[in-house]
Amino acid sequence: MKVPYVDLAAQHAPLEEELLEAVREVLRHGWFILGPEVEELEERLAERLGVHGVVGVANGTDALTLAMRLRCIAPGDEVLMPSHTFLATAHGARLLGAEPVFVDIEPERMLLDPARLAEALTPKTRAVVPVHLGGHVCDMDALVAFCQEHELELIEDCAQAIGSTWRGRSVGSFGLGAFSLHPLKTLSAPGDAGFVTVHDDEELERLRLTRNFGLRDRDHTEFVSDHSRLDTLHAAMLLVKLRRLDDWIAARQAHAAAYTAGLADHYRLIPVPEHSEVAWSTYVVRHPERDRILETLRTQGFDVKIHYPVPVHRQAPYADTGPWELPETERGVATMMSLPVTPELGPSDRDALIELLRGLA
Ligand SMILES: Cc1ncc(COP(=O)(O)O)c(C=O)c1O
Repeated sequence: MKVPYVDLAAQHAPLEEELLEAVREVLRHGWFILGPEVEELEERLAERLGVHGVVGVANGTDALTLAMRLRCIAPGDEVLMPSHTFLATAHGARLLGAEPVFVDIEPERMLLDPARLAEALTPKTRAVVPVHLGGHVCDMDALVAFCQEHELELIEDCAQAIGSTWRGRSVGSFGLGAFSLHPLKTLSAPGDAGFVTVHDDEELERLRLTRNFGLRDRDHTEFVSDHSRLDTLHAAMLLVKLRRLDDWIAARQAHAAAYTAGLADHYRLIPVPEHSEVAWSTYVVRHPERDRILETLRTQGFDVKIHYPVPVHRQAPYADTGPWELPETERGVATMMSLPVTPELGPSDRDALIELLRGLA
């Protein structure tokens, strides 16, 4: 593709020496599991996001599962979530034996619709998992109020939304936050990694044990637990990249502003509430003839994606659940496509894409 959706080589080229020096330092001290860089990264992330604490784990899916387990989600519990998400949101619940209950999305913002939650409630409902898809923040006013009213746990899927805020507060600061640092995310490790945000010392302590065999100290375990840790090598490189995060988000926002200005008259766009800042992990446009347009864009060398063409309730493991009434989800996935919005995207390529898109609408 002439214009890739993500270009990690271009992202890393100017950082190469710094990244290698960070790696060399880990090779020198040799503390590969839960080394000092992991602790430092957790502190820096907690500061950056304005949360009490952060616990690094092996990936974003584990972040979801461990956050749900921390709040005692167990077999037979029901968890309300959108079907319009990456399938890991639902797998996170299923891995604990809980059942995802799919709720439709808002027609305009394409995020979990708070107005549809009440009808999905049953005596088994234990939690709500909003997904801040593409960096757009779910309606946290309504979701926090709903969870309080019905005494439900709130676990935010923040995998795509690092840097996004709602009324000045970071995603992951309302409930427990599950973040992914997968290579395709806005802040990415050179492999799988993730973290959870927590809001008091007790949960911080419990989660630190949960990610590490339940070990209280080297020789004593408190409970049966898997291990799911963020590697020191990854943390060392993530610390280098975290220093660029604000610049990278600003670059994404500049691309998004250009897309909005150039495409608002031609495509249906996702509106951003005044009190929310979006860190744009994807830039979504909608058109009834999406497939025709996508085909032409790809032929001309522009890598445009669909996040996600098959909603989770239609994926094999969930095919026997429901039946679900999700008309906005079905409409959304049939009409949306994601444009490249990474800091490495050149403004001239972006503008050429805008011109092409205007002509195709
Ligand atoms: C919305 C969403 N949830 C969860 C995940 C899972 O994260 P990971 O791939 O790090 O396990 C991802 C990313 O892949 C995601 O996009």
